[in-house]
Amino acid sequence: MVFKMSIWSNYKYFYNEFVKLYYKDFFLLLLFVLIEALVISLSIISIIPIADFFLDQSLSEANFITLWFVKTLSLINIDPSLLVFFIFFILINFFKSITSSLISYGIIRIKYKVIERFSFDLLDKLLSAKWKFYLKNSSGKIINTYTNEIKKTASALNDFVTQIALGFKFFTYIITPMVLSFKITILTIAVSFIFAIPFLLVGKITNYLGKKNVETGNKFMNRINETLQGIKSILSFARKKISIRQNVDNFRNHYKYTIKFQILDTLIINLYQPFSLLAICIAILINVDNSENISELAAVLWSLMAALPNLNSFIRGNATIQNLIPAFQQFRELEKEASQNKEIFGRKVFEDIKKEIKFKNVDFSYYSGEKVLEKLNLIVKKNSITALVGESGSGKSTVVDLLIGLQTPNIGEIRVDDVNLIDLDIQSFREKTSVISQDVFLFNTSIYENLIWANPKATETEIESALDLSNSREFINKLENGIHTIVGERGVNLSGGQRQRISIARGLLKKPVLFILDEPTSSLDSISEKLIQDALEKIARTTTTLLIAHRFSTIKNADYIYLIRSGKIIQEGDFETLKEQEGEFKKLFDNQII
Ligand SMILES: Nc1ncnc2c1ncn2[C@@H]1O[C@H](COP(=O)(O)OP(=O)(O)OP(=O)(O)O)[C@@H](O)[C@H]1O
Ligand SMILES: [Mg+2]
Repeated sequence: MVFKMSIWSNYKYFYNEFVKLYYKDFFLLLLFVLIEALVISLSIISIIPIADFFLDQSLSEANFITLWFVKTLSLINIDPSLLVFFIFFILINFFKSITSSLISYGIIRIKYKVIERFSFDLLDKLLSAKWKFYLKNSSGKIINTYTNEIKKTASALNDFVTQIALGFKFFTYIITPMVLSFKITILTIAVSFIFAIPFLLVGKITNYLGKKNVETGNKFMNRINETLQGIKSILSFARKKISIRQNVDNFRNHYKYTIKFQILDTLIINLYQPFSLLAICIAILINVDNSENISELAAVLWSLMAALPNLNSFIRGNATIQNLIPAFQQFRELEKEASQNKEIFGRKVFEDIKKEIKFKNVDFSYYSGEKVLEKLNLIVKKNSITALVGESGSGKSTVVDLLIGLQTPNIGEIRVDDVNLIDLDIQSFREKTSVISQDVFLFNTSIYENLIWANPKATETEIESALDLSNSREFINKLENGIHTIVGERGVNLSGGQRQRISIARGLLKKPVLFILDEPTSSLDSISEKLIQDALEKIARTTTTLLIAHRFSTIKNADYIYLIRSGKIIQEGDFETLKEQEGEFKKLFDNQII
């Protein structure tokens, strides 16, 4: 299991899932890295004429590179001298510094472009995914993918390209020793490769460490996220110490794998070097009898010593890539899962409700197990208030999720007039629907910004009217910055009831065709609730409303009421009829249970 994936299949996966998809970025990056490798090689080669000059000032026995250089100089009438060689060497190195800086800049630009593309492609897919996808994937995993794993993926890409460049670099570096002494060079390379095999196999271990690093990274991020979200409960339950302990444990568990990888990485750098030197020695020893002249041997050694660190970097790069590939896998799997869970609806654009919305024999369960809704039949009539009332956990909010297409029925259907909801262009339907959900979400910005988020085109008069109807104006006026007060994260600077009222104002501002209110007044005092009920009644003549509540006071004005228990409608009718009729509703009403 641990060593399931071989080194090669990891590269193949990376190629298929990345290089093929982002080939333009890949080739641009590769081009940049190759140019850099070329310039570096040139800078190293530029020392050869100087070395030759010191060995033999007449340059009669000089290296072919030096001879070629001398020939080029004579073409432009310059006599070869140490000064000229020095100037050439310095100029090339200056050129190398400038191009290296430019190329580094280019590489950074491409790398961040890739990160940006990865992030927004993923975000786009996430925002098109079904609600179900979010119920399955922890926010920690998603945040971790965004903050760490995508960056690691870009690093892996960088390393992958560098890896290819290192291969090229290595071959340019060994051209000189090959020309000088083919035998010694080939032998050194062959022995070096044999020594490199165990170091390449370390890639399997670093891959395993990478996987663990991603897994524990998700957990670490999840815990931190939860700690911050639940800070109020942690403080009020005096659970600070436990929270710190859990976070420290997660941190240690996560970084344990990073540390192990870094130790391996250091070992590779330090251990392989003596082996590569050993390879050179072995090659020379084998060839000691038919020894070449001493200057050539020195040049061979010097060039091999310059070439072998590239092999070392290659081996190290392999370990790093293997370690980073799991980050890329998580990113791609998340992206794929989001794509596979894309919301699929029809193309019929929703304009208005002509008559009603109907649930017909709807069955629904979250998982394959227990039914949350069973043979549910319900009608929401145009321009009237339909109420759904029932005990906690009876399935009311689930009805809302189905109504706006966040979930789809397992059996049965939801019809908007004569069109099945799944055939509608859900975006157009949601554009004309306002949902005031049970847990209000406000953005950490001003009240004003929160309001116009729902309808950017809203006029001042419309905003005023929404604030009046939701009975929000009075408390907003009392705030120091009025409507421009910042509400805090999730609206923490406001009271529960104030948040609810802002959320109702926001819903009204959208001028919805369908208004869904899930426990909209649960945090309000009876006077505020009454004011909102009156407002609802005013708008009810022009809006189709589904009102969900526990309390009878909230649904008193509804035109039609459904009583739900364990996912089944057990009674229905208008308030007065239900109150008088023998049945569950009457019992609950008489005992004021709901
Ligand atoms: N994401 C989920 N995964 C699995 N089960 C869920 C999920 N959400 C809700 N349920 C279950 O579905 C049932 C109905 O939940 P729902 O939220 O619809 O109840 P409700 O009537 O809105 O309750 P309340 O009045 O407390 O808001 C409950 O038994 C609940 O445990
Ligand atoms: Mg609910």
